Amino acid sequence: MKPVKVGLLGLGTVGTGVVRIVEGHQNDLQSQTGSPIVIEKILVQNKSKARSIQIDSSKLTEDPYDIVHDPEIDVVVEVMGGIGNTKEYILEALSRGKHVVTANKDLMALHGPEILAKAGENRCDVLYEASVAGGIPIIRTLIEGFSSDRITKIMGIVNGTTNYILTKMSQEGASYSEVLKEAQQLGYAEADPTSDVEGLDAARKMTILSTLGFRTDVALEDVSTKGISAVSSEDIAYAKRLGYELKLLGIATSQDGFISVTVEPTMVKNTHPIASVNGVFNAVYVYGEAVGETMFYGPGAGELPTATSIVADLVAVVKNLRLGINGQHAVGTYKEKKLKTDEQ
Ligand code: NDP
Ligand code: HSE
Repeated sequence: MKPVKVGLLGLGTVGTGVVRIVEGHQNDLQSQTGSPIVIEKILVQNKSKARSIQIDSSKLTEDPYDIVHDPEIDVVVEVMGGIGNTKEYILEALSRGKHVVTANKDLMALHGPEILAKAGENRCDVLYEASVAGGIPIIRTLIEGFSSDRITKIMGIVNGTTNYILTKMSQEGASYSEVLKEAQQLGYAEADPTSDVEGLDAARKMTILSTLGFRTDVALEDVSTKGISAVSSEDIAYAKRLGYELKLLGIATSQDGFISVTVEPTMVKNTHPIASVNGVFNAVYVYGEAVGETMFYGPGAGELPTATSIVADLVAVVKNLRLGINGQHAVGTYKEKKLKTDEQ
C-alpha cells in the first residue's frame, strides 16, 4: 500500500519520541497496518535549534499551514501544546479531511466536543490516548474495555510531575523547588509547570476520563481542584507517621445520577496499592458495577512512554484507512449530567 504521510506539529520531548518510534519500529508498524508510515514534515518554533536526534532539515518548517494545508499529508500529529492557535490548526486540518492524533489534554478537556464534532462532519479520526496518563492505554480501555459495564468510580494519580515531586519529598526529604526543576529537565512538566503543581493538568485529565467513563459531558469548571504547591515536608512526614502517603488524587464518582469530580492532595493508607505508585508513574483505578475493582499502572509522562500512545493511535488511524472506517468512532455528547453540590 502507498505510504501514509504524517505532519508532526512539534519536535520537543514527545515529538522526538514519536520520530524515534516511527523510525525504530517501522517494520513492526508496517506489518500491522500494511503501509509504511512516513513523517513528511515537522513544525517547530525555531529551525536552527540543536536537536537530540538527527533530522533531515528539509522536513522542518516554522509555518503550520505548510502542514495543515498540504494535500499530501494524511494525518496530523499534534504535540506542540497550547490551546488557541493549536485548536485552529487542528480544526483546519480536519476541515481538509486530515486525521488528527494529539497529546493535548488542555485542548481536549476544553474543546473536545467541538473538535470531535468537526471530526464527525468530515469523517475524520481524532485520537488522544496520550493526553491522559502518558503510556497507560486508559482512554482505549475506558471506551472499549468497559463498554459492557457501568463505571461508578475513577480514581487515580494522573500527573507524573507532582507524583515525582511528592515521592522525592517523601523518600529523600528533597526540597519541592529542586525536584520541580528536575522534573522539568526530565521533560515531565508542562511548558508552564503551574498547571502541574496547581492541579490543573490533573483536572483536565479527570475531565476527559470522567466524560468517557461516565458517558456524559463533564466540563473542566465542574472539577473542584487543589494542587500541591502548599504541601510542606512536614505534611508529608506527618502523614507518614500516621501510616499514610500524600498523593495528588483525582477522584470521580457517579452515583444515583450525580457526578462529582475532584483533584486534591489526599492521604492514602500505605496498604492501598495507590500509595506505592511512585515517581513519574501514574495509576488509574476504575470501579465497574459488574467487573468490580480494576487498576492500570504505568509511566505517566516522558518521551518514549508518551510516544508509544501517540504511535498506537497512528496505527489505529492507518488500520481504519485500510478498512475505510475513519471517523466512525467519534465520541459526542451522551446525556445530561447532574453535578453533586455540597448541599446534596
Ligand atoms: P515541548 O515543549 O518539549 O515541545 C513543544 C514542541 O512544539 C517544540 O518542538 C516547539 O518547537 C514546538 N512548538 C511549540 N509552540 C510552537 C509554535 N507556536 N509554533 C511552532 N512550533 C511550536 O513539549 P512536550 O513535547 O513536552 O509536550 C507536547 C504536548 O504533549 C503538550 O500538549 C503536552 O501537554 C503533551 N504531553 C506531554 C507529555 C510529556 O511527558 N512531556 C506527556 C503527555 C502529554 P521548538 O522545538 O523549535 O521549540
Ligand atoms: N506534565 C504532565 C505530567 C505530562 O507530569 O503528568 C503528562 O501528561
